Amino acid sequence: MAEVPPGVKGMHDIVSPEAWKWQFLEQQARDVLEAFAYSEVRTPVLEYTPLFVRSVGEVTDVVEKQMYTFDDRDGKSVSLRPEGTASAVRAYIETAQWHRQPVTRWYYIGPMFRHETAQRGRLRQFYQVGAEVFGTNEPSLDAEMIAMIVTLLVRFGLDGNALQVTVNSLGEPEEREAYRTTLVDYFSAHRNRLDDDSRRRLETNPLRILDSKDPDVIAVAAGAPKLIDQLTDGSRARFERVRALLNALGVKHETDPGLVRGLDYYTGTIFEIKTKAGELGAQNTVAGGGRYDRLVASLGGPATPAIGFALGIERALLAIPETAESYEPALAVFFAPMDEAALDFALPIAHRLREKGIRIEIEHRPGKPGKLLPRANKLRARAAVIIGGNEMASGKLTVKDLVHGTQSEVAVADLEAKIRQLLD
Ligand code: HAM
Repeated sequence: MAEVPPGVKGMHDIVSPEAWKWQFLEQQARDVLEAFAYSEVRTPVLEYTPLFVRSVGEVTDVVEKQMYTFDDRDGKSVSLRPEGTASAVRAYIETAQWHRQPVTRWYYIGPMFRHETAQRGRLRQFYQVGAEVFGTNEPSLDAEMIAMIVTLLVRFGLDGNALQVTVNSLGEPEEREAYRTTLVDYFSAHRNRLDDDSRRRLETNPLRILDSKDPDVIAVAAGAPKLIDQLTDGSRARFERVRALLNALGVKHETDPGLVRGLDYYTGTIFEIKTKAGELGAQNTVAGGGRYDRLVASLGGPATPAIGFALGIERALLAIPETAESYEPALAVFFAPMDEAALDFALPIAHRLREKGIRIEIEHRPGKPGKLLPRANKLRARAAVIIGGNEMASGKLTVKDLVHGTQSEVAVADLEAKIRQLLD
C-alpha cells in the first residue's frame, strides 16, 4: 500500500462526533456575541508580514519565533495570521468604519497559526473566537467585555466556579515608558541572574522579562517594582472603576500586577481567564485580551481607542465536561428498503421529507429489516420506515417506533405528520 502523506504537525482534522461539539460551541458564541450587539467580520488568513510586525511587535515570541512567514509568488513577504486583532484593525481602517458608526463591535471565529511546540492545548493551527470594539474608551466597556467572556464560557458548559479572572492595568504608554526605565535599572542590577533571552530583552523589550518561564528569572522578576504602583491617579481611578463594575456584574476576579500578556499593542486594562477544570494541564489560559488604544493610529488610522479579546476554542473544548457524542443530534428516521424496487419507491419520499428539514438516513443497500435495523439503533434513530413488496402494494409504510418497539401502518400522505408526532 502507498504511504499516507501525513498531515502537518500540530494541525488537526476535526471529525464527527467532535465536529458536533465544535458546532455547538460556535453557535453559542454567535448567540452570545450577537446578544451583545456584535456583528461578524471575516478577514483573510494571510496578511503582508509588516502588519503583524508593527502591531503584535517585532520583539515578541509570536513575531520572532512563531509566525509562518514566506514570500509569495510576487516576492512579497506574507504571514499566516497568528492572531486576529491586527487584521481587524487593518480592516477597520481600510473600510473607514468611523464614517459609518461611532462604535464598531466586531467578532470573528477562525483559525490562527503559530509555530509553537505542539502539546495538549497548544497547536500550530488553532481556532479563536475573538471580538474587538473600536471607538470607546469607557471603563464600563472593559467590564462589559470581561463579563461577556465569562457568560460565553459558562454557556459553552464550563464550570463558572472553576474560572479564574485576572486583571491588570498597563497604564498609558507614557507611564509604561517611565516604568521601563525603572525596570531596566532593576534588572541591570541583577544581570548575572538573567538568561540570554532576558538579557537581550533588557535592551529591546524589558517588560517581557516579567513573562519569562526561566525559574531564576521568575525569582528575580518577583522582586521587581510593579507598574501598577507607578500609575498616575487618573489611570488608577480608571482601573478601580473597571474593578468596581466587574463586582457589580458579579464577576469574581483578582488583580495580578505581574500580568503583562505576550503582544505589544496593549495599553490600560488587560485580562486573562484560566480554568482549573477539564483536561487542560499547563495550557489552562482559555481567553485573554485588553485595551489597545494606540494601535489604530499607529497603523495609520485616526486616533481610536479599542479593546478586544480572544478565546481558544480547543482549550475551551477540553474544559467542557460533556463528551463529544452527546452533541450529536439524534437521527429522526431511518429508511430501510427491502429490495431495489423498494429503494426506488422510498427515495423520492425520503427526499421530500428531507427538503422539509427532517434528518433522514436511507440505506442504499437494501436488505431484510433484521439486517438493517441494528444500524438504525446505532444511529439513535427515533423511527424506522420499512418498505417492501407489501408496503408498495398497499401504499402504506411500516413505521417502527424504535423507542417503544411498537409498529404501525402509515399511508405515504400521512408519513410526515406521523414522524413529527413521534419527534414531539
Ligand atoms: P492570545 O493571548 O495570544 O491573545 O490568544 C488568545 C487565546 O488563544 C489564548 O488564551 C489561548 O486560549 C488561545 N491560543 C493562543 N495560542 C494558542 C495555541 N498555540 N494553541 C491553542 N490555543 C492557543 C490574542 O490572540 C489577542 N489577539 C487577543 C486580543 C484580541 N486582544 C485584543 N483583542
